[in-house]
Amino acid sequence: MVARVIPVDPFDLVVFGGTGDLARRKILPGLYRRFSAGQMPRESRIIGVARKAMTREDYRAVVAEAIGEFVAPERRDGEVERAFLDCIDYVAVDVGGDAGWSELSALMREGVVRAFYFSVGPGLFGPLADRLHAHAIADTDARVVVEKPFGNDLASARALNATLAAYFREDQVYRIDHYLGKETVQNLMAVRFANILFEPLWNAQFVDHVQITVAESVGVNGRGEYYDRAGAMRDMVQNHLMQLLCLIAMEPPFRFEPDAVRDEKLKVIRALDPVRSDEIVRGQYRAGATTPAYREEAGDPDSLTESYIALKVHVSNWRWKGTPFYLRTGKRLRARTSEIAVTFKEPPHSIFGEGESWKENVLVIRLQPNEGMNLRVMIKEPGPGGMRLKEVPLDMSFAEALGGEGGADIPDAYERLIMDVIRGNQTLFMRGDEVEAAWAWTDPVIAGWEERGDRPQPYDPGSSGPEDALMLMHRDARRWREIRD
Ligand code: BG6
Repeated sequence: MVARVIPVDPFDLVVFGGTGDLARRKILPGLYRRFSAGQMPRESRIIGVARKAMTREDYRAVVAEAIGEFVAPERRDGEVERAFLDCIDYVAVDVGGDAGWSELSALMREGVVRAFYFSVGPGLFGPLADRLHAHAIADTDARVVVEKPFGNDLASARALNATLAAYFREDQVYRIDHYLGKETVQNLMAVRFANILFEPLWNAQFVDHVQITVAESVGVNGRGEYYDRAGAMRDMVQNHLMQLLCLIAMEPPFRFEPDAVRDEKLKVIRALDPVRSDEIVRGQYRAGATTPAYREEAGDPDSLTESYIALKVHVSNWRWKGTPFYLRTGKRLRARTSEIAVTFKEPPHSIFGEGESWKENVLVIRLQPNEGMNLRVMIKEPGPGGMRLKEVPLDMSFAEALGGEGGADIPDAYERLIMDVIRGNQTLFMRGDEVEAAWAWTDPVIAGWEERGDRPQPYDPGSSGPEDALMLMHRDARRWREIRD
């Protein structure tokens, strides 16, 4: 089945940080894929901006190289690539000074959507916004796209929000959390709110607990300096895992539209209890046979930053009181796998008697790899021999179910999110108050372990994390699901 593609309106997208890592890996290859799928109109322009003096041709070569490196060979096509490169322009701009701004201004066209992707450090948001206004480049309908980290605590997030608010209305600001652009994450909302099956059971009366796992097999890979200041709590929990938690726990929004969805997510964040110090486990990976220790990668032999964290989280509201949410994420773990598992309670009475190998129903929403859903149900073991129970998975792989031959053409999170910016749809972007509420919950957790001088526990690369994380579950008579491909 070929995905239905509705072209967006023609646009001028200015990418500040146009030669940076994110632009090369995600933004430009993603735009190429949307172009080749017919979603990005040929009349659109992508204007790369960086400090370096370069001609348009030089920059087109950078873009071509990025496509060569990050677009799958089967998605490439010489003619399409040439047409895409025709849409690319470049201007060297001194963000803090005046050079280049009038050239940029001259390139912008009337009558098309204007979007500005701030793919630069947050320290430049203010100067960029300021110059865009001073040179009248951002019109009243312009959109700005900003990346994480959106601050590193509540105070800095507030300051960033204030900086942006001085120049742009909230409906012009698109704060990216790329987890919200993942296909299965959106499917989570479809599953919950487009089916009658799950929602009546989706509460503390029927759900025993929820596990959210985002495991990575890679280390901090050259990002040691940033990561060592952030750690897993700031890098992953405050944003990605928090967003997943919100989508699982939120009330049905009255409509699938930006503020209705974001209002409900915000209520979840506000309902979170402070995390107790005995309900957090932090870890740090050791050296392996062929891999360096975290401290070596981070460049600090005494670093106390966590590369792994597990937490037990309580959502104190009518729906969820009494159902814990266990969150964990870490680097250099056994496999790269992200999933949400909702474990339901036992039926109130077993008619099959003691000793049956009964297991709870578990709904697993697999975010990556192999996106799909799986529901564990009990059936009778086939054949003679009496009534014996057996668990079977009701399995749905999205690629197989939707893709026909070759699997579905599932757009990467960035592709989808950039197209949403052009469409002016903020549903999958974080609102300023959501980000602040998430920091307001995160800050005391971090302050707590800093005050106590907590040391992360070492764990082996390729493992499931530190031993104490197992205990977090065991003492509640529960178990983590296995981390595997
Ligand atoms: C980023 C984090 O936001 O998400 C990285 O900064 C992490 O540390 C990455 O590796 C994970 O994203 P994905 O899409 O590969 O799961």
